[in-house]
Amino acid sequence: MPPQPVDTTMAYVKLIEVVRCAEGCGTFVEHDGRELAVFRLTNPTRVVVTDNACPHANGNLSAGDVVGQVVSCPWHDWRFDLNTGVCVDSAHPRVARYPAESRDGFVYVDLDATGESDH
Ligand code: FES
Repeated sequence: MPPQPVDTTMAYVKLIEVVRCAEGCGTFVEHDGRELAVFRLTNPTRVVVTDNACPHANGNLSAGDVVGQVVSCPWHDWRFDLNTGVCVDSAHPRVARYPAESRDGFVYVDLDATGESDH
């Protein structure tokens, strides 16, 4: 996929080097006091950034198993679609996710976004 132009209307911040994020799993990142999970996914290749805290009881989502586009919380196994943040098992609250992209070897994220919308 060719590089996409940066949307300059959003407040992207540099979060972490892409190479520090293993493919197919989550990586914990703390930025400005916020705890985030960065998922480096394939098919298609992309990065997804969510809150690290599971909306159920603050489980560590970055340590969850990832199968395809879905991460399972390691505490009680709620599963979240990383494309939308929606819990795929029921109408549980969604995990906040933020517009993100990889560019020039780094993951950039817009933490000013609501974290609720699909991007
Ligand atoms: S804390 Fe994530 S499922 Fe319970």
